[in-house]
Amino acid sequence: KRQEKNIRQILLERLPKDIVSLLQLAGQTGQELDVAVYAVGGFVRDMLLGIPNDDIDLVVEGDGIAFAQNLGRKLGARVRPHLKFRTAVLILPGGQKIDVATARLEYYEYPAALPIVELSSLKMDLYRRDFSINTLAIHLCPPHFGRLVDFFGGQQDIKDGVIRVLHSLSFVEDPTRIIRAIRFEQRFQFKIGGQTERLIKNAVRLNIFQKLSGARIRHELRLLAEDSAPLDAFIRMRDLGLLQEIHPLLHFPQTKEALLEEIERVITWYKLLFREEAPDIWIVYFLGLVSGFDTHQVQALTSRLRFPPKRIELVESTRRQLRYVAMQLAQWGKNGGSAADLYDILSPLSLEGLLYTMAKQRKLELKKAVSHYLTHLQDVGILVTGSDIKKMGLEPGPRFANILRAVKRAVLNGEVRTREDQLKYARRMAASLQGQEPKAVS
Ligand code: CTP
Repeated sequence: KRQEKNIRQILLERLPKDIVSLLQLAGQTGQELDVAVYAVGGFVRDMLLGIPNDDIDLVVEGDGIAFAQNLGRKLGARVRPHLKFRTAVLILPGGQKIDVATARLEYYEYPAALPIVELSSLKMDLYRRDFSINTLAIHLCPPHFGRLVDFFGGQQDIKDGVIRVLHSLSFVEDPTRIIRAIRFEQRFQFKIGGQTERLIKNAVRLNIFQKLSGARIRHELRLLAEDSAPLDAFIRMRDLGLLQEIHPLLHFPQTKEALLEEIERVITWYKLLFREEAPDIWIVYFLGLVSGFDTHQVQALTSRLRFPPKRIELVESTRRQLRYVAMQLAQWGKNGGSAADLYDILSPLSLEGLLYTMAKQRKLELKKAVSHYLTHLQDVGILVTGSDIKKMGLEPGPRFANILRAVKRAVLNGEVRTREDQLKYARRMAASLQGQEPKAVS
């Protein structure tokens, strides 16, 4: 059933030149060492779909580590071998990574389902993978360079938009694949195949997630939250009974969907800002999933999902702040407060807390206030320093901080801008404080 097809032309047209050269060099290296080399997996899938993907996965029919070391020398790359799994990672000078795996028949346990005559070591390697769309390989060695090898109907499934496992024990072997299936379904707008969906439902009946570690589940949920259309993915998980399998408290009611949808909107907006600081998107969704829960309920979930201590602290401290911040924000809106007041209300929050707060606000003007804080206020600095104030003849002390704070408020409120204006403002403050007892300025 092995299908081959020459896609050399597609490859040359679609891939960036430097990637093509890398693949050619890998193929030549394979030829020199007399081993067959293939590009496999997500890289091939995405190329056929026309989606850029720099994560190159190679499979070598032969000694993968020796191959990696040889290719690494040619590329001036660092090579990190993993002897136990006979894999290696190449890290190129530009930071690009290439994963190399070894395919050799003697390393595999023969599955009962495959008659030995049908086997090739490449096929065995691909057979252990999750879905047919991830089992395509491209031969890289001349003269076969650009030949697509398709053992499991992956091309057809990509055309039809179907996520399909290769055999009925796939989810039993690795239950995280269920969450991956949903992630790919949403990312590519594909559909989980009928038989594959039945296997998922069957796995749910067998309580398959119960044996899976919290850390692995959390890792997959996190990838889900960071991929496309997370809300639809969470809904799909819920409707298949998967969330409640992980923990009954994860089953979110329809009434929570509006909030989660707002979170999705806010995160999409924030990503478009191209800010350096990246939020932990999963935590923002988690805050949404546990909204309205009490502390014990949240703890039950963070412990089931084995949150690391720092993430627990982030969730708990943010939740402690949220109610107070929401109250103050509402007051601020009613009283028509200043930008500096807004800054004081929002600056204690983590980025995750800010995004959640923005999503949670029902009033458009308060949503806008949080977005204004994120885009215009949070990074505001001042051009006056402590030594400027010292030169004004003031002794260092609490008054310094008060003056600097007052300057910052004036900058936030747009009352002063240039360093000159800020200095003038500080001087006025200093003069009015001179000789007075130190006291808070507001
Ligand atoms: N894989 C698997 N079972 C898993 C995880 C991964 O069989 N639980 C296989 C997949 O076939 C995949 C390969 O390992 O092609 C590499 O995994 P990963 O990098 O996670 O997959 P990609 O398909 O590249 O997905 P992404 O685009 O999200 O990186």
